[in-house]
Amino acid sequence: MDRILVTGGAGFIGSNFVHHVVATTDAHVTVLDKLTYAATQESLEGLPDDRVTLVIGDIAEPEVVEPLVADVDAVVHYAAESHNDNSLSDPGPFIRTNVVGTFTLLEAARKHDKRFHHVSTDEVYGDLELDDPKRFTEDTPYNPSSPYSASKAGSDHLVRAWVRSFGVRATISNCSNNYGPWQHIEKFIPRQITEVIDGRRPRVYGDGLNVRDWIHTEDHSSAVLAILERGRIGETYLIGADGEKNNLEVVQAILRHFGRGDDDIEFVRDRAGHDRRYAIESGKLRQELDWRPQYQDFDAGLEATIEWYVANEAWWRPHKDAVEAAYAAKGQ
Ligand code: NAD
Ligand code: DAU
Repeated sequence: MDRILVTGGAGFIGSNFVHHVVATTDAHVTVLDKLTYAATQESLEGLPDDRVTLVIGDIAEPEVVEPLVADVDAVVHYAAESHNDNSLSDPGPFIRTNVVGTFTLLEAARKHDKRFHHVSTDEVYGDLELDDPKRFTEDTPYNPSSPYSASKAGSDHLVRAWVRSFGVRATISNCSNNYGPWQHIEKFIPRQITEVIDGRRPRVYGDGLNVRDWIHTEDHSSAVLAILERGRIGETYLIGADGEKNNLEVVQAILRHFGRGDDDIEFVRDRAGHDRRYAIESGKLRQELDWRPQYQDFDAGLEATIEWYVANEAWWRPHKDAVEAAYAAKGQ
């Protein structure tokens, strides 16, 4: 593939994928991104101009999308409203970007017969009990809980329908919780790191026993590229790195890094409809595409991520007060 359009390529995970493509292939990347509050445009600085072009625009506008899709070999679709808490306060943008935006891209891919990869989430499967021996697989029924996960489930269903009804050459990946550099400080790990840097206590929802299955964003990128290059058309692949931790374990690791006590935690109001546990069985991806995560040790990956936020305060500091004011208004 010589030319790839990456939607949401200025966001946390999309920008990591752009770096991965530039480092490991000869492809030219066009990034289409609206540069919402969540964009991390600085993460694209320093990439070679002859390999990466940024177009500022909205994936839900056909006149923006169509000429860009016509001009590439493949579309890798990351752009989304991505934060569950925001979807509970204001679901509208999630429906527009995640559902209408995906529809708009699919129509362009159909018209111009382009390869399409849709980046989705494990949250479409709902949640598991803490003691459930099962993990999510590609056959788990859809059962989303929040406006965010329902909008992502809707987008997955559109992709499946466009494959079956119109023969669009698409694949889907559903990944677990990502961590790493450039993640917006509204999200759990960067929020707690920056709270502790500011001398406050980590803010944990409910009893803190909710489990997330953490994967380093670089491992997500290598998996998406493997699926784009070698995945079977029409197939879904789950992406995970066997990284289950409950939220207390994560904040305690952050506290220990800064020499603070394990119980120096503030328990705050729980998230409405809070999913209890996510866990990914990624055997299909590993067996079919011979993919393996490079970050096998979550504690080491978290340490590196903490150090990155300490070293990059100039990037996140301007956003900190507004993020905390919004959480304070919700009692979180
Ligand atoms: P993010 O919020 O950090 O970035 C989203 C990017 O999309 C931003 O750069 C934003 O400006 C852009 N965007 C938003 N609306 C747009 C629009 N209408 N038109 C064009 N661009 C728009 O999100 P992220 O955490 O990097 O997630 C990227 C994708 O990966 C999403 O599809 C998300 O559902 C999926 N995903 C995320 C995780 C995770 O743990 N964060 C896990 C699995 C899947
Ligand atoms: O599973 C994949 C999903 O992971 C992605 O699809 C989403 O885009 C991404 O945001 C993430 O969703 P979560 O809701 O799991 O992530 P979040 O970082 O918001 O929260 C992680 C856990 O931490 C969750 O159990 C809620 C809890 N939490 C979160 C915040 C922000 C807290 O306890 N305190 C907090 O301040």
